[in-house]
Amino acid sequence: MTKDRIAYASQKKDCMTNNYDNRFDALLDIEECVRFYPPDIRPLDDNDAIFQNQIESQSIALYIHIPFCKSPCGFCPFNQYHYSDEQYTKYCDSIEKEILLLKRKIDFSQKRISSLWIGGGTPTDLTDEQLDCLLSVIQRSFDLEHISEFTIEGKPVPGMITGLKLKLLKRHGVTRISLGVQSTISKYLKILGRNYTFDDALSTLDLIHSYDMGINVDMIYRIPNESEDDIVKDVEKISSYDIDHISLFHYIWHNGTPLTRKYEGEHVVKNYDRDEFFRHYQMANRILADHGYRQYTPYYYTKDKMCQYHVDRWKMPQTDVLGVGAGAFSAFNNWIYANAHNLNLYCSRLNEGSLPITMGKRMSQDDVVSRLAVLGCKFFSVDDGCFEKIAKRGIREYFGEKIFALEALGLIYMDETGLHCTTKGKAFNNTVAMILASDEYHMVNQPQPLEIREEGL
Ligand SMILES: C[S@@+](CC[C@H](N)C(=O)[O-])C[C@H]1O[C@@H](n2cnc3c(N)ncnc32)[C@H](O)[C@@H]1O
Ligand code: SF4
Repeated sequence: MTKDRIAYASQKKDCMTNNYDNRFDALLDIEECVRFYPPDIRPLDDNDAIFQNQIESQSIALYIHIPFCKSPCGFCPFNQYHYSDEQYTKYCDSIEKEILLLKRKIDFSQKRISSLWIGGGTPTDLTDEQLDCLLSVIQRSFDLEHISEFTIEGKPVPGMITGLKLKLLKRHGVTRISLGVQSTISKYLKILGRNYTFDDALSTLDLIHSYDMGINVDMIYRIPNESEDDIVKDVEKISSYDIDHISLFHYIWHNGTPLTRKYEGEHVVKNYDRDEFFRHYQMANRILADHGYRQYTPYYYTKDKMCQYHVDRWKMPQTDVLGVGAGAFSAFNNWIYANAHNLNLYCSRLNEGSLPITMGKRMSQDDVVSRLAVLGCKFFSVDDGCFEKIAKRGIREYFGEKIFALEALGLIYMDETGLHCTTKGKAFNNTVAMILASDEYHMVNQPQPLEIREEGL
């Protein structure tokens, strides 16, 4: 045995006897998705620092938030408001102002926008005229020539996604619709408060197909009161349609949402059961794999291409993400920051001529490096060569005992190419991310739009 290998073996032995199972056990119960890192962004007065001394980065993923829904759902934690014509008109004006201000801060001629995502809320709830106006602002403001994917989120409520609307979206460069179907079973659509049937969703999917646009379908499993049999039936059913890309989320009980409050009132047991979750996750995965879907993150499955926007924001090395709109998050120039979530505050800041950024954090060198793997592990592997180029140290050396802990917990394995998630590590991927996160962020919640809003910011 070489000296290095002896040192490695003894370090590993020390770590194995260090009772990692206890130290990290609670992290196996993390349900929320680690989407933003570092998570502890704080109120910020001076935004100028974000845009000073911009580091060279060629690509940007652009996100535009439309926080309106015509029929909001009781389970949803996103920054969304009941649609009103008047509020939207003010909001759209503010979006244009925000884009103009950003263009004064960032030299977009040196950037390539690689992906664009218009999310919400439900952007397809806007009228054709409103979408035409919004998309014209975007097209006038940015060079979308090199964009590889342009997605907009929608909901299959009858009359909301029409042939005319799809034609208009295509004319403005939209290439893909992300449709929130959620369930194929009416009982659960009802529990979720969705105001359409699965047949409506199928008609919308057919229509989108006929316009030759890419499709993602959002699905939720482990919906309150959903039986194991129904999970199987539901995933079987959605897999049997020829959909390019499926996002399958497990239901999360978000504090403070109307559905969580309702079930609290009814004393429904909603304890998270780790073993049950793992069983359901594996069942769903098997069905999707049998139908030709390749899983590339804990939630995303594709028959063909991965979604470029997800690649940009999560896969190592992550691309800068510029978020526009109320409550949008950005990761730019080694800062992570969030816009005002509250609509009035968002609009009034822009009316005063300033960017609506209210919270943020300059990333430390450790944040920058650990972020590579914390978000990168969502793609199940972190390449050692690529990591070392940026971190100047290999994965094993950088994360030290955490790697042994992850191995001991059966969440990852290491080989000569880098770190790889095991089946368990794919299912409990947020645990892998949390363990790789700097110790100061262990058990720190993701920045929660709802909480931020409740703080009255
Ligand atoms: C912004 S919405 C998508 C577009 C559209 N507004 C809709 O609802 O169809 C993003 C997705 O997050 C997922 N989601 C929302 N709340 C969730 C929860 N409590 N648990 C799991 N997934 C959730 C849903 O699948 C939803 O489609
Ligand atoms: S799930 Fe979609 S439609 Fe429902 S409230 Fe959230 S953003 Fe709106």
